[in-house]
Amino acid sequence: MPVTEPVRIMPAEGKLGVLLPGMGAVSTTFIAGVEAVKRGLGIPIGSLTQLATVRLGKRTEGRTPLIKDFVPLARLEDLEFAGWDLYEDNAYEAARKAAVIDPALLERVREPLERLNPMEAVFEQDFVRRINGPNVKEGRNKMEKAEMLMEDIRRFQARTGVARMVMIWCGSTEVFHRPADVHQTLEAFEAGLAHNDPRIAPSQIYAYAALKLGIPYANGAPNLTTDTPALLDLARERNVPICGKDFKTGQTFMKTLIAPGLKARMLGIAGWYSTNILGNRDGEVLDDPGSFRSKEETKLSVLDQILQPNLYPQLYGNVFHSVKINYYPPRGDAKEGWDNIDIFGWLNSPMQIKINFLCRDSILAAPLVLDLVLFLDLAQRTGMRGIQEWLSFYFKAPMHAPKVYPEHDIFIQLMKLKNTLRWMRGEDLITHLGLEYYD
Ligand SMILES: NC(=O)c1ccc[n+]([C@@H]2O[C@H](COP(=O)([O-])OP(=O)(O)OC[C@H]3O[C@@H](n4cnc5c(N)ncnc54)[C@H](O)[C@@H]3O)[C@@H](O)[C@H]2O)c1
Repeated sequence: MPVTEPVRIMPAEGKLGVLLPGMGAVSTTFIAGVEAVKRGLGIPIGSLTQLATVRLGKRTEGRTPLIKDFVPLARLEDLEFAGWDLYEDNAYEAARKAAVIDPALLERVREPLERLNPMEAVFEQDFVRRINGPNVKEGRNKMEKAEMLMEDIRRFQARTGVARMVMIWCGSTEVFHRPADVHQTLEAFEAGLAHNDPRIAPSQIYAYAALKLGIPYANGAPNLTTDTPALLDLARERNVPICGKDFKTGQTFMKTLIAPGLKARMLGIAGWYSTNILGNRDGEVLDDPGSFRSKEETKLSVLDQILQPNLYPQLYGNVFHSVKINYYPPRGDAKEGWDNIDIFGWLNSPMQIKINFLCRDSILAAPLVLDLVLFLDLAQRTGMRGIQEWLSFYFKAPMHAPKVYPEHDIFIQLMKLKNTLRWMRGEDLITHLGLEYYD
């Protein structure tokens, strides 16, 4: 449907604060990357906001501006970072230990990273069992800890003079837990914070602090966090955009490329066996069955949603899907994933696909963090609130309205993202009908 009136977007004036709970591999690779790009030491490969274009109008018009020239995004020069972690390492030390960024390049951005010391974390061992560190807040109850986080944020704002902020969860994966009564209403949640309810996770305390202050929140892990009525209500009430969950990188990213292709050709799938070896701290945390369960949920849901076995029972009614992550320290962040896909074609003839992806998890995640920072800030300046389905593109388990199923097909997600940008600027949405070229 053609849209003629552009939406009113507040300008991206002043600095944008980036709040990062968790200063591990993903966060430090992201920050080091931004600092490198700002100094002309690298290209922000993998980032739509920095490199992608958006086609406008008909294919004959030749209008394809860069996204960053089309919508008013914050500039990299305007980003100011802050983070929390239970380990005391500054961002330079954490990046060196994560061993993702080339050491020579890291030295060239050492100075800004060294200045970035983590604030004390809100942490509970019951939610992340495999790690423990000294840089943790003490408080009488969870409400007091939420207020301490809000105080950290206000101090950061006062010190740096940032005009706006966004928070992206880059902390560890918490153990799987389901929403309980304490998560059902904001009132119950706040009472739970005050009474130290054990069912409120640390990530929910960060999200609560951010939303209370009107700060957009993205969930990079498979944690439950904002998938609860209490925090969804808070986001709407405060007019804050949120999105999640679990960055779509590595093996699941591959899955969302290949599965829609097989389905597009109506090729059947008998089984999909995925296994990984991973040796970083994330791998260590995921070695705990409780944290892995959270990850498994988001990884497994992808195929079912893409293949729609209810519509295609002959092709996808009986897919055996298995996902394993094995902690294997020698590999560090250089994950290796194997997929064996048993497919069948014409007259049930069996075939196989093997994928061996030697990827760098944090290298794939860093540009997603950058895009989410810039797009969430844009969404807020556009007056958008609650779940941002157009940012599903970035997530393994996209948050969605209760009445619709999540969209997992990466190409539909990309179309939705770009159409949202067109809608913001009053451009025609692109339907790909294209009959007019053949009149
Ligand atoms: N790397 C990827 O491609 C990728 C993809 C999808 C999701 N993720 C998720 O992103 C998150 C970060 O990944 P990573 O590779 O950087 O892991 P990491 O272990 O290197 O970093 C996570 C950091 O969070 C800290 N932390 C844990 N709980 C915290 C808390 N309550 N408050 C503050 N800090 C806390 C840990 O001490 C650690 O330093 C993980 O949950 C991971 O599952 C990563």
